Formats: sequence, C-alpha cells, structure tokens
Amino acid sequence: MSKPVAIITGAASGMGLALTRHLVSKGWRVAMADIDSENGSRLSSELGADTIFQQTDVSNYAEQARLFSRAFTWGGNRLDFLAANAGIDDKQSLYEINEALDADGIPKEMNLKTIRVDLDAVIQGIWLFKHYARKNNTPGGKIVITSSAAGIYSMATNPLYTSAKHGLVGLVRACGPQFSEENITVNCICPSFVPTGLCPPHVLHKFPKEHITPMSTVLKAFDTFIGDNTMTGQTVELSLGHLYFRKQPEWANESQKWLGEESGEFWKEAYESLATTEGNL
Ligand SMILES: NC(=O)c1ccc[n+]([C@@H]2O[C@H](COP(=O)([O-])OP(=O)(O)OC[C@H]3O[C@@H](n4cnc5c(N)ncnc54)[C@H](O)[C@@H]3O)[C@@H](O)[C@H]2O)c1
Repeated sequence: MSKPVAIITGAASGMGLALTRHLVSKGWRVAMADIDSENGSRLSSELGADTIFQQTDVSNYAEQARLFSRAFTWGGNRLDFLAANAGIDDKQSLYEINEALDADGIPKEMNLKTIRVDLDAVIQGIWLFKHYARKNNTPGGKIVITSSAAGIYSMATNPLYTSAKHGLVGLVRACGPQFSEENITVNCICPSFVPTGLCPPHVLHKFPKEHITPMSTVLKAFDTFIGDNTMTGQTVELSLGHLYFRKQPEWANESQKWLGEESGEFWKEAYESLATTEGNL
C-alpha cells in the first residue's frame, strides 16, 4: 500500500517544520510548501525522498494551485491531509498615527496581507483540497488549520491577525460538518505562545518560560485530528501541555437556537441560486 500524503504550508520553520518531521517519522510523504525557498529546499533535501519542497506564496492562488497539482501527482494520485498552517502577524499597525497620505490628502490603503495569508489563502486551500480529495481511491481526507489563541481571545497589538484567526474558527465551524458528507474533516488548532520564527527574535528570549506551550502539545493536537475519522468542525485551544476543546457560545435564546440549528432548509433554498450566479458578483 502506498504511503499517506500530506501538504503542509509554512513547512520551512516552526510548527510546520515540526509537523513535517513528525509525519515523515511516522511513514508519511510530505509536500512542504513555504515562501522561504532557501530553508525549504535545504530542509527537504535533509529529510529525504519522502518530502518535496515547492516554493509557494499561499496568498497567490496560482502558486497554491500548482502546489496541489504537483503534490497529488508526486503522491501517486493521492492526497490525504492538508495542514493549512502558514501565517504571518500584522504588517502595518491599524493604530498608525502618521499614516501615509496620497496627493489628495487621503490615507493610502492599509496593508491587509495578513488577511490574505492567514484567512483568504486557507479558504483557497480548502477549495483546492476538496477537489483532489474527491479523486482519492477512497474519496475524502483531513484538513487541520492553524488558527491561534488569538482566534478565541483578542490580541490588541495585532487586530488583523486576531480578525483572521477568529475567521478561521468560524470557517471551521461552518464548513466542517458540511464536508463530512464527502468524508472530509476540517478542524482547527488554536495554540498559545510557542517559540518559533513568528515571534520577533529580539523578544523571544524574554518570554516567561512558564507561559510557553511546547511543540509536543502542538503535535499532540495534530495527532488527535489526524487519528480520528469523525471529528469535524472542532476548535481546540492549546495551552502548556493541555488541549481544550472549545464549543461555540451558548444560544442566547430559543429563537437563536432555532436559527442556528433548525433554519438550515430555509437558508439552503435561499442560497440554491448561488451556484448559478457565482462569477457575476
Ligand atoms: N508561534 C506561536 O506562538 C503561534 C501561536 C498561535 C498560532 N500560530 C500560528 O502558527 C502558524 C505557524 O507559525 P509558526 O509559529 O510556526 O511561525 P514560523 O514563522 O516559524 O513559521 C511560519 C512559516 O510560514 C511561512 N510563510 C509566511 N508567509 C507565507 C506565505 N505567504 N506563503 C507560504 N508560506 C509563508 C514562513 O516563511 C515560515 O516558514 C501560523 O499560522 C501562526 O499564525 C503561532
């Protein structure tokens, strides 16, 4: 039987790299994707023939599409797992005081790259994954998205990151149960602080050790979702050595409960026309 095949984005550093090493050690083949080609190529060479590296800016759809196509072929027409993991923090401060102005004195457009990488690209990743997962010998597969504790709480210093990571939690809750019809599970992990390349290096050494979540907790969370065929739409918060499964908030009243749980047919009918109107918007 051929080895299971994974795509991991952000695989040249931090959690993506740790997960790559972990899966390879367990007999997987991993297509490593990262914008950082120097480290990505070097690490893939070190890890050997069960990996390939594809330089990919996940926020560029054509690049991400090439990654999926190559990985599926390389994997022997097989794709079992996607870790949509690449992420960046805010690249411009929403609170900026001296924002640049155009010739008319109007603030220039804010840099929303964080949303494109952390949220938009993950949606495109799911979009691509389902296409290939349907072609597997046994159709289906698993997706784990790296959100953040900032997807549950808020991080005032990084409002764009907070928005994107909250968005991922909503995304998983909305589409996870739907995709179970296609034997695809979609879940997300919400790590607290893990020392990786994401944290500005000049402050990394100052971070209080008692608040550090070890990489072993991250791998435990990935293993939990990879090893289960039924869990979908789930969010798990990771802190220190622990996994905390997070439910969506309680319904405020019976009306909200009806809207959330029983109005599905109404919305299905309302949006049935979407398939035909898509592209016109
Ligand atoms: N480190 C933490 O404390 C922490 C906590 C919660 C969530 N996260 C999330 O974990 C994920 C992994 O981050 P990490 O902590 O391992 O950081 P990291 O910086 O070590 O790794 C992220 C990797 O993503 C790559 N990357 C960045 N932009 C990319 C793009 N456009 N296309 C492809 N690759 C790109 C980087 O080159 C890097 O190799 C991110 O989504 C991050 O938001 C991190």
